[in-house]
Amino acid sequence: MRLVEEIIRLKKEKNAIILAHYYQIPEIQDIADFVGDSLGLAQKATTTDASLIVFAGVHFMAETAKILNPYTKVVVPDLNAGCSLADSCPPRDFEKFKNKYPEHMVISYINCTAEIKAMSDIICTSGNAVQIVNSLPKDQKIIFAPDKNLGGYINNISGRNMVLWNGTCEVHDILSTEAIINLKIQHPDAKLIAHPECKGQVLALADFIGSTNAMLNFTKSDTNKKYIVATESGILHQMQKDSPDKEFIIVPTDETCACNDCPYMKLNTMEKLYLCLKNETPEMILSEALINKAKLPILKMLDISKKLNIIK
Ligand code: 13P
Ligand code: SF4
Repeated sequence: MRLVEEIIRLKKEKNAIILAHYYQIPEIQDIADFVGDSLGLAQKATTTDASLIVFAGVHFMAETAKILNPYTKVVVPDLNAGCSLADSCPPRDFEKFKNKYPEHMVISYINCTAEIKAMSDIICTSGNAVQIVNSLPKDQKIIFAPDKNLGGYINNISGRNMVLWNGTCEVHDILSTEAIINLKIQHPDAKLIAHPECKGQVLALADFIGSTNAMLNFTKSDTNKKYIVATESGILHQMQKDSPDKEFIIVPTDETCACNDCPYMKLNTMEKLYLCLKNETPEMILSEALINKAKLPILKMLDISKKLNIIK
C-alpha cells in the first residue's frame, strides 16, 4: 500500500508518466497512466509532455519511447528486460542478410533493437502490420524481420512472398496446439483468439487473430461468453476487468510448466518501478545518430497508420 501511495506521490511531484504494456503484472497495469499494446504505447510516446517517462515494458519499447522523445529522460524498472524476438536479430547478421536482397525494402516489426530499426524502411506493429504491407505496391519486394510467424501470417493473407528473417517470440511460439485442441473439445462454446506471433498451426485454428489491443477490443464487442486466449497471460487482467461476465481460458505452453508469462516483461516489479521513479535510473540512453536514423521508419509507420485511420 505504501508503495502505491509513494509511486502516486512521486509521479505528481516529478510530472512523470508511467506507460505500461498489457503484459505487465496487474499492480503495474493498475497504477500506470496509460496501458497499451506496442502501437498504442508508441503513439502515446509521441503525444506526452511529461518531464519523465517511466516505461514498464521491455527494452525495445523503452528505446522506441526514447527515440520519439529524445529530450525527455526515459527510465525503466529493469534494464535486463529484453525480448527473445529482438535478440534473434543481431544487427551485424541482419546487415549481411539485407545485403543479399539489394532490391528489397525492409519492414521491421517494432519488436527489434534500435539498430535494426535504423536499418529499416518502415516499422510496423501487430496492430498495423497487414495494412502497412498492403499499402505498398503489389510488386514491391520486401524483407520482413524479425518475426517469421507474423511475416508468414501476412504472406498468407496478402498473397505476397516477403523474405522472412528467422526469428520468433519464445512465449508465443511454444503455445501448445495440442492443448488448444483439447481446450476446444472441453469448451465447444468458446472462441479461440490468437496473437499473430503464434505459429501457423495455432493461427489456423483461431476464430480471431489480432494484436493485444485488437484481441481486447474483440472480447469487449463480441457477443460470445467464453474465449480460449492464445497469447501472454498478462492481458487476462484487462480482459476480465472489461468483461467481468465473460470467461477467459489461457493457452498453456508445450513445456512442463502450464504458465505463459513473458520472463522479460515479468522482471518488472512494483518495487523496481518505485525505485526507478525515485532514483531516475536505470535510464535509457541512445546516441543522437542512432535516434535520428531509427526515428524515420517509426514516424513513417505512425504516418501511414494515421492515413489509414488505424490510429487517430
Ligand atoms: P503487441 O503489443 O503489438 O500486441 O505485441 C505483443 C508483444 O509480444 C509485445 O512484446
Ligand atoms: Fe518479446 Fe515475446 Fe516477451 Fe513480447 S512476449 S517481449 S515478443 S519475448
